[in-house]
Amino acid sequence: MCGIIACIGRTDTVDRVVEGLENLEYRGYDSAGIAVRNDDGVAVDKHAGKISELKHSIVDELPDGTIGIGHTRWSTHGPPTDANAHPHTGETGDVAVVHNGIIENYDTLRDELTAEGRTFTSDTDTEVVPHLIEKHLEDTDDVETAFRRAVDELDGSYAIVAVAADSDTVYAARQDSPLVVGYGDGCHYLASDVPAFLEHTDQVSFLEDGDVAAVTDETVDITDADGESVSRERETVDWNAEETVKGQYEHFMLKEIDSQPNAISNTLQGRIDGDDVVLEEFPEGTFADVSAVQFVACGTSYHAGLYAARLLNKLDVPATAHRASEYASGDIPVSADTLAVAVTQSGETADTLAALRLAQEKGAQTTTVTNVVGSTAAREVETPLYIRAGPEIGVAATKTFSSQVVTLSLLAERVAEDSPVGTVRSDRAAFLDALQRIPEQIDEVLERSTAEHVCRSHVHDDAYFFIGQGTACPVAKEGALKFKEITYEHAEGFAAGELKHGPLALVTPDTVVFAMFTGGDRDTKTLNNAKEVQARGADIVAVAPEGVDLDECTDEVLRVPSTHPDLTSLLTNVQLQLVSYHAANLLNREIDKPRNLAKSVTVE
Ligand code: M6R
Repeated sequence: MCGIIACIGRTDTVDRVVEGLENLEYRGYDSAGIAVRNDDGVAVDKHAGKISELKHSIVDELPDGTIGIGHTRWSTHGPPTDANAHPHTGETGDVAVVHNGIIENYDTLRDELTAEGRTFTSDTDTEVVPHLIEKHLEDTDDVETAFRRAVDELDGSYAIVAVAADSDTVYAARQDSPLVVGYGDGCHYLASDVPAFLEHTDQVSFLEDGDVAAVTDETVDITDADGESVSRERETVDWNAEETVKGQYEHFMLKEIDSQPNAISNTLQGRIDGDDVVLEEFPEGTFADVSAVQFVACGTSYHAGLYAARLLNKLDVPATAHRASEYASGDIPVSADTLAVAVTQSGETADTLAALRLAQEKGAQTTTVTNVVGSTAAREVETPLYIRAGPEIGVAATKTFSSQVVTLSLLAERVAEDSPVGTVRSDRAAFLDALQRIPEQIDEVLERSTAEHVCRSHVHDDAYFFIGQGTACPVAKEGALKFKEITYEHAEGFAAGELKHGPLALVTPDTVVFAMFTGGDRDTKTLNNAKEVQARGADIVAVAPEGVDLDECTDEVLRVPSTHPDLTSLLTNVQLQLVSYHAANLLNREIDKPRNLAKSVTVE
């Protein structure tokens, strides 16, 4: 939530900062702004609205300069107005600051600064920072000292980047909010996420909590919370810059749906050898003392956790999935033989990080299944397991869900094999073989899907329900989440058998129910549940593998190729992604940037 980009050392800095903001817009998109520092001082231009709408006016308003900082905002303190947009300045306008996170003691600081006669012009917590830097600059000429003193007064979470008129160094600080340094050709970048500058460099260092960085066009000096000089490993990011641009696609979401065969092939690369699961990160025996697994996650990642819990339960390992925000309340029993797995695409979701930390405090073994190398979750566990899906820009998670489920399927096999309570699948060879065929089968779904046609018949219905049993149940919930997230229509996902215990009262002839089948032994029951809603006048759209007999009871069918019943729901989910996408497109919604949402939610 909120994106930061700084570019230091280029004559086309403003263009690079604008480009970076566009690449980061998925992190927040209610207002944006840029500050440029040159020999005349600091100039700021900022407005409410999306960067795509503002970029020309911002570029026209700003002078030339080789140092620029920019911000795209997702509001936490104060509504999206010009005044609340970042960068924020202090009394003199000589210091400009962008910030991601929440400054918890801003009320107290603001009162103190106001009592000293300083005037505030926004509702944000961030505005205290430039005022504090300016205040300390009254006692010292050294901008770094003033910046550090200001940062020392802050409580809460922050990634902060500041420029000052009297300095050609950009200062940055990180606490519980990501910040990465990019090493370009004769220039440096600072950003909250790598896609901001990936077109220009894949060489990065991730700052750690407490770090302060002083960055010029030639140097990057990092000191830790004690002021000691530290070096942060320089890494090469294994992401392709082409994945951060839409190319011929109208929306990132469709591009990312279409890229799933490739993403899953990357996820699987080198991880299956005949009947063996090969996880470099977790060799055989790693989980010998695990007898229960808890997945902690939010949103789509929670649904991937639900899916994985079902797979593990089938392999006799007690496993549960928990909404991270609830888990963090601390009531779930944990012991030393519990493996807690934080499932998080971004690795930065605050609720998930809180749950992970709680599991660690309570003595659980922990890992994370994440997409982002160097993310907070990845750095807070001993060994992260990467899903290797490549950058996902659309706010709606698509390819990362598929790659999470595939990664978790492999992890489940390894845990069941190692754990004293687990059982190795009797059909393991067939399961792993089926897993390796998923990319080509997704290709088939993408080529043949009639989801758009189905959407045309139902786009003006009153409500959309999704039902399924077993692994189809988490995918029913995921289908509904995706649908409501990008269409803004009322959608709910239920365990198929639950419908008759209440939700059936909502069903009318203007409701459509998507019923998911797996090719497994629960399909007859799902069919009966579908008939119950059909009897109340609702239309049924089945999503079912080839060959599953639907007894002619459904109104329409979206077919998926036949596979192992434990994996069918991965294919089903692709049909549901297309249903949501086409429905949102027909309704003319902002598909990649749905209202009120942001890709990465870094506040609890
Ligand atoms: O980065 P994370 O996987 O931790 O994000 C968790 C949720 O915020 C995320 O999955 C959200 O539900 C999706 N954008 C929905 O499409």
